[in-house]
Amino acid sequence: MKVNGQDFKTVWRVGASVFLIEQNILPFEFKIFESKNYRQTCEAIIIMLVRGAIALEATAAYALVQAFLEATQNNLWQYVDQAKKEIEATRPTAVNLFYAVKRVYDAAKNSADPVNAAQAEAEKMVAESIAATKKIGEYGAELIIDGMNIETHCNAGWLGCVDWGTALSPMYIAHRAGKKIFVYADETRPRGQGSRLSAWELHNEGVPHAIIPDNAGAYLMGQGKVDLMIVGADRIAANGDTANKIGTMEKAIAAKYFGIPFYVAAPLATFDINCESGQNIKIEERSQDEVLYQTGPDENDQIKKVLVCSPGSSAVNPGFDVTPAELITGIITEKGIIKPTIENIKALFV
Ligand code: MRU
Repeated sequence: MKVNGQDFKTVWRVGASVFLIEQNILPFEFKIFESKNYRQTCEAIIIMLVRGAIALEATAAYALVQAFLEATQNNLWQYVDQAKKEIEATRPTAVNLFYAVKRVYDAAKNSADPVNAAQAEAEKMVAESIAATKKIGEYGAELIIDGMNIETHCNAGWLGCVDWGTALSPMYIAHRAGKKIFVYADETRPRGQGSRLSAWELHNEGVPHAIIPDNAGAYLMGQGKVDLMIVGADRIAANGDTANKIGTMEKAIAAKYFGIPFYVAAPLATFDINCESGQNIKIEERSQDEVLYQTGPDENDQIKKVLVCSPGSSAVNPGFDVTPAELITGIITEKGIIKPTIENIKALFV
């Protein structure tokens, strides 16, 4: 996608360096971070300089590639096994991160030339992921009728992927095809992925939109102002239960109440068919500081952190929730749109 007329991906690699758009300072500054080793890449994941399930997939794959490139011939597997553990310990909920590490690791294990095999597999996986998100956009755009108002939660745009997006990809493709759409971006407290990242993306792409407070969704739905809701996913269980950014489930409940179609957009890499139901999905607990403090530029454009809650109070900060499959109208994948049933999900993998 374009930033100021120039093509960018969220994540890319040149040799042993991994380049990442610094999402934790967007939209106030647009900067690229160069990570020179796998430990820096792990830290970038932990502090959410890079985030979003599909962007984490590419970043984790590249982190493991960095480990392969850093290791010596004598310590190769010892070094890589340690790196694998550290990468997998960065964030627990998005299955894409684990999928990527396993895929690159297995390709290298099964090769006589592990270092080159790891690099080739990571690049193949990233290319497939970009193609999948474009396909999701094409299938999802068929759901979008001219004049629709669409709500989305968190950022499941190209910043959460490598390119295109999952939930936002159908909106970009519909908009580029000339359909008139209006997007409501839930602000997505506490980190503001909607108000900061989706809004920035939609603005860059010229898509008419407004940021809404997280608690305004049900009201707008009740007023007939939302025709369709599309969100992304971090892990979809075998029965269709879907983990996504905290607050997603509330929107699904409200959408069901008002009879509004509620779609999840995700590639096959986000399905965890070994996970029976949403009850088995590990939900990340993040720092209470993300709730208690907010960051933004002061009058001199310096990014400042300010306390926005009652001093001395503590906070609870679950990063994700699980929307039961019965609240989901359909899942938009690169293989088409399915109803979230065990049979349909199994059929995606044959
Ligand atoms: O905590 P985050 O910002 O990594 O959470 C991201 C989400 O929940 C997205 O909706 C999801 O990963 C889909 S990104 C294409």
